[in-house]
Amino acid sequence: MNIIKQAEKNCRIWFDGDIWEQCPEEFFEPRYWQNQHAIIGQAKGRGQVVFFSHQDQSFVLRHYRRGGLVGRIISEDCYLFTGKKRTRPWREFSLLGQINELGLPAPKPVAIRLIKEGLLYRADLITQLIPNSNDLSRLLVRQRLSSEIWQQVGRVIRQFHDAGVDHSDLNIHNIMLDEEEKIWIIDLDKSRIRKPAASWQRANLERLYRSLEKERQQLPHWYWLKSDWALLKQGYQG
Ligand SMILES: Nc1ncnc2c1ncn2[C@@H]1O[C@H](COP(=O)(O)OP(=O)(O)O)[C@@H](O)[C@H]1O
Ligand SMILES: [Mg+2]
Repeated sequence: MNIIKQAEKNCRIWFDGDIWEQCPEEFFEPRYWQNQHAIIGQAKGRGQVVFFSHQDQSFVLRHYRRGGLVGRIISEDCYLFTGKKRTRPWREFSLLGQINELGLPAPKPVAIRLIKEGLLYRADLITQLIPNSNDLSRLLVRQRLSSEIWQQVGRVIRQFHDAGVDHSDLNIHNIMLDEEEKIWIIDLDKSRIRKPAASWQRANLERLYRSLEKERQQLPHWYWLKSDWALLKQGYQG
């Protein structure tokens, strides 16, 4: 990575100069890509996530938002600024960089924008799109996944854990499968690298299990069985 920094008034941008030659502020505005007819898709997470293409490559733009109750009571997308290195975009951007250097399957970070407003900031992240991929939740509403895939999910989580990556929100929407049946882990907001330990690793897996269970209880069709979980654990345990 060749991180380039730009600053203008209350706006700071960092981007990978190996991927883009320049990164003007409008790159963080969905409307800009709309006007360019460059939007190629979108997804829903805590907010709207926009997929766009630029110079023959595809990217994902996400605005940082709070989920849940706090987001509805306090401001939805403002965070307290206590130093650049503590901001959510900076932490996710640099963590994604480290994870990619380790050769783990996570999207490449491309750029972040931070807009300071007094003591607060708003922010956005751009990553490379994982081509022809679906998150597992989208697949599981219509089909079962093979044993090999479930084992592979376990193996990939294990690789992240061996590298000390504590995912703060390992749920079924944050695991992707691409056309070549490769598994990817996304959405590393609030995640961090720490000393491998059974306690947080177990907590990550339990969170994923709860997310599978929750969808099973809520959705009319959910093609996931307890035996699939056993396969995942098998892959994880190696
Ligand atoms: N790099 C990517 N490639 C392909 N799809 C992605 C990528 N990043 C996010 N998505 C899609 O967008 C959804 C929401 O993105 P995510 O980063 O998980 O944000 P949120 O914090 O809103 O959950 C994901 O569940 C996934 O379907
Ligand atoms: Mg997510």
